Amino acid sequence: MCGIIGIASKENVSSNIINALRKLEYRGYDSAGIAINTAKKINQRKVKGKLDNLIYALQKDQFDGNTGIGHTRWATHGEPSDKNAHPHSSTSVSLVHNGIIENAAELKKSEEVKDYHFESDTDSEVITALLTFYLKEGLSHLESVQKTISSLEGSYALAIIFSDSEDTIYGAKNGSPLVAGTNGVGNSIGSDSIALSSVANKVCYLEDGDITVLNKESIEIYNLEGERANREFVEIGINESEVSKGPYKHFMEKEIHEHPHAVGETFRQFIDYDKGTITISNINLNFDKISKIYLIACGTAYYSCLVGKYYFEQYARTPVECDMASEFRYRDPVIDPNALCIFVSQSGETADTKAALDYCRKQKIQTLSIVNVKNSSIARDSDHCIYTKAGAEIGVASTKAFTAQLSVLLSLSIHLASEKKFVSVEENIKLCKEIMQAPLLLEQAIERSYSLKDTAKAIINAKGVMYLGRGTAFPLALEGALKFKEISYIHAEGYPAGEMKHGPLALIEKDLPVVCIVPPGPLFHKTISNIQEVIARGGKILMITDDETLESNSENIWEVFRLPKCPKSIEAIVYSVPIHMLAYYTAVELGNDVDQPRNLAKSVTVE
Ligand code: AGP
Repeated sequence: MCGIIGIASKENVSSNIINALRKLEYRGYDSAGIAINTAKKINQRKVKGKLDNLIYALQKDQFDGNTGIGHTRWATHGEPSDKNAHPHSSTSVSLVHNGIIENAAELKKSEEVKDYHFESDTDSEVITALLTFYLKEGLSHLESVQKTISSLEGSYALAIIFSDSEDTIYGAKNGSPLVAGTNGVGNSIGSDSIALSSVANKVCYLEDGDITVLNKESIEIYNLEGERANREFVEIGINESEVSKGPYKHFMEKEIHEHPHAVGETFRQFIDYDKGTITISNINLNFDKISKIYLIACGTAYYSCLVGKYYFEQYARTPVECDMASEFRYRDPVIDPNALCIFVSQSGETADTKAALDYCRKQKIQTLSIVNVKNSSIARDSDHCIYTKAGAEIGVASTKAFTAQLSVLLSLSIHLASEKKFVSVEENIKLCKEIMQAPLLLEQAIERSYSLKDTAKAIINAKGVMYLGRGTAFPLALEGALKFKEISYIHAEGYPAGEMKHGPLALIEKDLPVVCIVPPGPLFHKTISNIQEVIARGGKILMITDDETLESNSENIWEVFRLPKCPKSIEAIVYSVPIHMLAYYTAVELGNDVDQPRNLAKSVTVE
């Protein structure tokens, strides 16, 4: 939910901290701040609003030093404001925090902080107050950190500097991600490896309970018991081009154009080029014993699960239950002991999805995660993990991760079907050939979607937009509506086309835009009937279909957007492109902040 960075270096760290915050902004952008430790004191600047506001503020009095911390915030406790921005500092200590301290209110009433003058409304400031108290009690820096975090309940990733220790940074992790990095010039800690991509070439993913002590020369890591912990450092695996916009105006535009690469690289993991089949070989799972599948996620990832349900039931004849993680974890679900619970998450840090995973682990149910960020919490804590190969996704509105998730779910369902003998080797080979067409068809879909720029111009003043579909086009309708509303701020709703007459048809009025996703196939004519019901009431239909749909089906339709004919198996993947592109163009036309839409953040690591 927030982004934190700490750097201890042989060189001045100010610009590297700002650079890291730029890469962390996708995690939250309500306020930003920096604190630099110099020989005499800690200099700090923090402002409401985006990072650019902080950069502007620093132009007036830039301060330099070789040790510092930074923060970009998505507000939870305390509104976005200068005083609630991080770092939170006293004369002796300064810290930045990502997470939620659930017992902050009780701690603020404790004896230890009764003399502390709180300046903010945040939960995080109570950590500063406790550290300040323990320092005054004569504890060492490390003892103060250990004592303080032992009283915290909830989630935290912390970077802490003490004014009387010019070159050292302390880090602590529980429930929120924290990565340590090194590059020979200095050492660093941050919320993810993307933030460290220009100050580290090796990284290590800290574990819950870890405390790290770092300066420009060394990084020490201690576990919950205070013993030195050996954590593996791995190549950072992120290059600068992955986290820059390149020739594109927005990350979202870039990431839509990366659909072909993301899908191709994701599928490539499962193609057995010798046999020409789809095979999941990198997980040791007894597939034919799986009695039922639960697909659990949030937001766009949940919509990929709804498409996945069709895949597993159609190909593998395995019953599937889809759940929004925030509902699943509280409904005390009855889970079949031979079930496989699959958790889908781009970031691998979504709090509700992680909590649902923890629930299933406690029930001793087999868990598998489908995640885009390597070594993220959900990836690490599930029994099995399959990575989407979408590359870093920075835009808050998820695009290439969605089609990459569909690619894993399709491959998994084909593999499961083959294991259960519902799909023969010949059928698997045929499906594999279809899958190999996906990147090219996605390129063609992108090319054709440029025409939607004009369509977007015609709907920017709509009071709302309806998205309709049947079969796998229904979850696509939900995804299209989410994409549209989260970056255009215009209400949009996805609905099963067959459900309109049971109520939502009342919403249809003259010129209300209705996006109908109508691939060819057995549901085509049924959906055309639904379209005519909408037209009869004045709705303005944008029909998304393919080259071969007969013209006669498009009378009275405002616009027909045609995709290249594509195999049924990869249809949902290909039809994702126009719904993503329409949302993108609408938001651009409206002048909205496409990559950092209001009120949102990329990774929702709080409940
Ligand atoms: C998608 O465009 C949204 N930004 C949001 O719904 C997102 O999909 C959701 O928060 C889940 O995130 P995750 O995939 O990282 O778990």
